[in-house]
Amino acid sequence: MGLETLFSPTKIGNVRIKNHIVRSATFMFMAEKYGYIGDRLLNMYENLATGGTGLIITGAVAIDPSAAGGPYQVCLYDESHISGHNKLVNLIHDYDDTKIAIQFNHLGRLGYHPKYPNFAPSPIPYKGTGITPQELTTQEVKQFIKKFIDAGQKAYECGYDLIQLHAAHGYFLNNFISPYTNIRSDEFGGSIQGRTKILVDIHNGIRDELGSQFPIIIKLQSQDYIPNGITEAEGIEIAKIISNAGFDGIEPSGGGRESMEFMKNTLPSKTFKKPEGENYFLPFAKELKPFMKECALILVGGIRNPISAENILKEGNADFISMSRPLIHEPELPSRWEGGDLSPAKCISCNSCLVVMQKGPVYCVTKKKREEKQKKEEIDENKQ
Ligand SMILES: Cc1cc2nc3c(=O)[nH]c(=O)nc-3n(C[C@H](O)[C@H](O)[C@H](O)COP(=O)(O)O)c2cc1C
Ligand code: SF4
Repeated sequence: MGLETLFSPTKIGNVRIKNHIVRSATFMFMAEKYGYIGDRLLNMYENLATGGTGLIITGAVAIDPSAAGGPYQVCLYDESHISGHNKLVNLIHDYDDTKIAIQFNHLGRLGYHPKYPNFAPSPIPYKGTGITPQELTTQEVKQFIKKFIDAGQKAYECGYDLIQLHAAHGYFLNNFISPYTNIRSDEFGGSIQGRTKILVDIHNGIRDELGSQFPIIIKLQSQDYIPNGITEAEGIEIAKIISNAGFDGIEPSGGGRESMEFMKNTLPSKTFKKPEGENYFLPFAKELKPFMKECALILVGGIRNPISAENILKEGNADFISMSRPLIHEPELPSRWEGGDLSPAKCISCNSCLVVMQKGPVYCVTKKKREEKQKKEEIDENKQ
């Protein structure tokens, strides 16, 4: 079986993507101090570009000083950040028609910034940090909307091809759409429409500034796996609002750090050992796809097998397939598949890379161990 669909060109909005493979946003803990882009990140992204990914989505980028998870997260809120982003975009564009999107985030309720309070729609405490976030006033919510719009303008100036809003995994924008973390009574709370308003306002604000030719996509929480949180049925309703608002693409995801307190294996990066565990957001995608109209469905979560990816696309259940961990292990994976080696991704979905992410640069622990073992065996053999 060939991979004609996976490796045929396509579009998001009016932006041509050379194949149907997306690198899902992956925070690598590799920025230089104070959020600047340096050689470590440039090399990592260059490896993805040479490896054949059609659309690279950056790891989460902070849109405000209070938004970052620490000094090593990439930022884009100050003029001084622009030149690094410019360099990154130019580097990626040098590679065979590869496109790059920037993911915007604020940690919201899950923040742990030493200097700033955790801003959120409502003061619902988070056990993980013991912090009760600071509830934003209506005026402050509008100021945050403006910050996302300003970051959008900067991204455009830097030459990014697309923007992705991060509205999943328990962070700021997810906090607004979830009934568990948003108990506001103003225009940004209450009904699904009220809770989703912040996303629509950011979208419309960016469109007002930059027009409809600059695609805006979103990583969207499909379910929280938390009592009183977003259920799958509500996730569909939220996605319909987003699609109708004019977003160019939705990448449905689910869960987060907090959901693990309530339900096992509910991280967005689920662990699994057998092929039956693959493609874990496909059931949601199948339900959502008929309502998506012009909005692309980007399927993420446990995609490991190129033949099943091809089938998902061919059957019309998704418009793109998106991967994170497999590309940490093998940035060259798309080229390998395109070259005819159809064996599944080598990533074993163990999440050791997430463990190292807590302290420093992300790498594939399993690959490193395997390489070290191989090296030792070679040395032992040479000794004999
Ligand atoms: C080390 C690491 C960092 C991640 N950082 C982000 C991020 O910055 N933004 C985001 O939306 N998702 C992030 N994710 C989640 C992935 O984008 C993806 O949704 C998830 O891992 C499932 O896809 P996979 O099975 O292909 O890994 C991260 C995952 C990992 C393993
Ligand atoms: S450590 Fe390596 S093998 Fe394990 S999940 Fe991360 S990328 Fe995959």
